[in-house]
Amino acid sequence: MSLPAWAVATPARRAHVARVAALAERWAEALGVTPAERVRWLRAVWLHDALRDAPAADELAHGPASAARAAAEGETDRGVLDAVHYHSVGYAGWDDVGRMLYLADYLEPGRTFDAGVRAELAARVPDERDAVLREVARRRIQRMVSEGWRLPPETADFWNALVSR
Ligand SMILES: [Fe+2]
Repeated sequence: MSLPAWAVATPARRAHVARVAALAERWAEALGVTPAERVRWLRAVWLHDALRDAPAADELAHGPASAARAAAEGETDRGVLDAVHYHSVGYAGWDDVGRMLYLADYLEPGRTFDAGVRAELAARVPDERDAVLREVARRRIQRMVSEGWRLPPETADFWNALVSR
């Protein structure tokens, strides 16, 4: 699998997406998911940043833009489309596709911050997926709050769903 033909992505972005895909594959293998489920995870991975480097894209707009384009190009899987649409902010309605993409996007080894902690979290995913998901959401949301950024309502709903399970 690879980026769609309509992707607008720099070489660095392509390398990031390839690392996210490798991590998702590793988890799919470790968890023994079906080939069909593994392909759903990978479709979302290869789509999620496809328009990240397009002229009008920004941090919050590129997920919805990529999901809309993917749907226009024939993607019909709601779990895949929701994973792509909300990957920057989180979404309470996600199935496993959205959850695995959110984890892999943050925990892929090419990001330079907190490398040790993130590697440990990545290694725990096959055994403690939901605990790691909560920790990753906590870290991502903590960063948004400490930077003084606005918290999208989807993010608050996502967090509330994670802590009320
Ligand atoms: Fe990404």
